Amino acid sequence: MTSILTFSEPQAVESPHRRPAGTGTRDAGLPHSSPVPASAPAGADGGAAPDPEISATTGGSLAAVLRRSAELERRIGEEPRSFRILTGDRPTGELHLGHFFGTLRNRVRLQDAGVELFVLIADYQVLTDRDVADSVRENVAGIVLDYLAVGIDPARATIFAHSAVPELNQLLLPFLSLVTVPELRRNPTVKDEIAHSRQASVSGLMFTYPVHQAADILFCKGNLVPVGQDQLPHVEVTRLVARRFNERYPGAGGPVFPEPDALLSDAPLLLGTDGGKMSKSRGNAISLRATADETARLIKGARTDAQRHVSYDPAHRPEVSSLVLLAALCLDRDPVSVADEIGGGGAVALKRVLTEAVNERLAPVRARRAELAGDPEYARQVLRDGCARARAVAAATLEEVREAMGLRY
Ligand code: TRP
Repeated sequence: MTSILTFSEPQAVESPHRRPAGTGTRDAGLPHSSPVPASAPAGADGGAAPDPEISATTGGSLAAVLRRSAELERRIGEEPRSFRILTGDRPTGELHLGHFFGTLRNRVRLQDAGVELFVLIADYQVLTDRDVADSVRENVAGIVLDYLAVGIDPARATIFAHSAVPELNQLLLPFLSLVTVPELRRNPTVKDEIAHSRQASVSGLMFTYPVHQAADILFCKGNLVPVGQDQLPHVEVTRLVARRFNERYPGAGGPVFPEPDALLSDAPLLLGTDGGKMSKSRGNAISLRATADETARLIKGARTDAQRHVSYDPAHRPEVSSLVLLAALCLDRDPVSVADEIGGGGAVALKRVLTEAVNERLAPVRARRAELAGDPEYARQVLRDGCARARAVAAATLEEVREAMGLRY
């Protein structure tokens, strides 16, 4: 039996997803030297990539998750319809190229492979950070446009928000009864978020949102969760809740919940233009909705290094290599060959190639987004329809839960 303990070693407390900029260890061991195939299962929501530090401290369990993910990819190819994916984002700001290559294109790939997709806008989870909670409404509207622009198809996928699905939220209560306070306290991702929080005191939601995340996944009986490494502890909590619920409340028709699998992959890690973690709040991220001119300006100001010759060497030249990688991803090419081609052209040539590559790659996404933005009622209706669909699913699950618990009067 897997346990959340697996991910709770003290050494693993620092999540690679939230590691502060400049520590330079996030991309250690990434498969930078090999091309990233366009079809790569870039399923890391959040863009976090396998980190040898963590795999070394979790007794090989990360390797096990990766092996399992490869097996799942095979099964998705064979029987996509036996999977239901639940994935989501906190509406903290504009989606950017890190999201695009880290998770969005992977969702579209899975959707197009025939897997059913539920995409959650986690507008209650975002309340763990009071600073961003103020612009949630605007962020939600923007994210829906981003989803549609990259190709998430509302005819096949369900896009919804926490706050619109009361039956999902109601699952939190019985679920909370299934976990202990020490288990909540030792979640490494939560610990890390607390360590980096700018807030003076930590809310109860900070400790309990991983259980809420279990409700996000289990309300629709999602059995596959594409995530970055920082989210693995939350998937473990979800598995634990499902298992304990099924044990404690065996339904007449068999177990109520599946034990969902994480789908982890070696998604490439992109740094921001300043060499730190790509994030909108740092002003170092190229957002999907930026104009071609804004993109050019941001890339022009990107940090490089003193060496004239452009090479692809992530360990020693993280800033230059990240720009090369981004160009390579946009061009569907191998970063080493992109770097070799630019070579003596130096940073100026690299930035020219990169600007063109990004703007060309994003042109159709941006055009589609602009078109969608011209009819805000359409996107609003997509979200309303998604919420209604999610609600119907959640209501049915809550009925089963009440039945299994003997709470139907
Ligand atoms: N916790 C995720 C994040 O911080 C967002 C999220 C909420 C999520 N619920 C989820 C992701 C369920 C996957 C599945 O990015």
